[in-house]
Amino acid sequence: MRLAVIGGGAIGATHVQAILETEGFEIAGVADPFDGGAALAARSGTAHYRDHRALLEAERPDGAIIATPNETHVPIALDCLAAGVPVIVEKPIGNTVAEAETLLAAQAGSGLAVLVGHHRRHHPTLQKAKEIVDAGTLGRLVCVSASACMMKPDDYFAPAWRRTPGIGGTFLINLIHEIDLLRFLCGEIVSLAAYASSATRGLAVEDTGAITFEFADGALASFVVSDTAAGPWSWDLTAGDSPRFAVHDVNSHRFVGTHASVTLPRLEVWRHDGARDWTVPMTMTRAEAPHESPYARQIRHFRAVVEDGAPTRVGAIEGARNLAVMDAVWRSIETGRRADVATVAAR
Ligand SMILES: NC(=O)c1ccc[n+]([C@@H]2O[C@H](COP(=O)([O-])OP(=O)(O)OC[C@H]3O[C@@H](n4cnc5c(N)ncnc54)[C@H](O)[C@@H]3O)[C@@H](O)[C@H]2O)c1
Repeated sequence: MRLAVIGGGAIGATHVQAILETEGFEIAGVADPFDGGAALAARSGTAHYRDHRALLEAERPDGAIIATPNETHVPIALDCLAAGVPVIVEKPIGNTVAEAETLLAAQAGSGLAVLVGHHRRHHPTLQKAKEIVDAGTLGRLVCVSASACMMKPDDYFAPAWRRTPGIGGTFLINLIHEIDLLRFLCGEIVSLAAYASSATRGLAVEDTGAITFEFADGALASFVVSDTAAGPWSWDLTAGDSPRFAVHDVNSHRFVGTHASVTLPRLEVWRHDGARDWTVPMTMTRAEAPHESPYARQIRHFRAVVEDGAPTRVGAIEGARNLAVMDAVWRSIETGRRADVATVAAR
């Protein structure tokens, strides 16, 4: 399968590497108006285009990965669909639910695949956790306690989009992945209450947040996220997603049910030794999942969807629903009150 990469920045380079290293895939060019994209294309032995439309026309790829700044995702995805090219759109799918709905409508009209780059859903560890939850091991899910702490260097914020409200910030860059992960394991989020702070970095976007989520079945989650906190308790710094980050052998997420609990990414399953009673000791066993790049698994899944009609694991509808949760986060912060999450209907 010949895949084009549109946007040759940090994650674009990860996608190019996954394409080059995964059997059965070829790189069909890199589109990026700036020289960083040209350098990535040269390093990867592929053609460089300054405009994605020129690439689509010249290379006619079998698919495209859109790894550009958030505000360009939907317009570029619409161009790809118009050219008959299925896409993986990086997260967040767009900036607003309305934008995501425009793409959903275009996709329905085109019949082409649109995947969203919530690559964690392809990660073997998260798939194993989903199996554990779906098997009923936890009983009824009661509560979740989780965090995404990381220390990004100051120069990470050099590109303007990363510090532009409504486009960058740790909510749209990091929390959106967490929303997707929570929805994947725990079901739909119906309401939430959120706090945001920019006290540490002093940028126009938040650097830290604390959010309480309510799920449709009444379970609750408490989540802290920060891009300026020197701790390893985040999926990125524990799960081995990307070779850019050291792997720390600690948990970042705890899912607790009436009968057992499971942690991520160590997949510790905790149960009572006898009666479910706080005076009875609990023991832990670890479930196992293979180590494999979620980015490689993501493109293999994309091919299965495009070529074999496999059901999409994380499509545009999930991207739109994640943004509906994000919309409630902004409303809660603005009003200082709990906010309900709007329903996004499938097409
Ligand atoms: N799935 C993940 O793990 C993950 C990780 C990081 C970033 N992301 C997402 O990927 C996207 C890119 O993030 P990044 O950190 O790589 O950003 P980046 O700033 O490092 O790279 C963006 C690239 O897009 C290029 N670009 C800008 N406008 C373009 C256009 N119209 N056409 C083609 N290229 C264009 C820029 O020149 C730059 O090279 C963001 O949406 C981000 O949220 C996802």
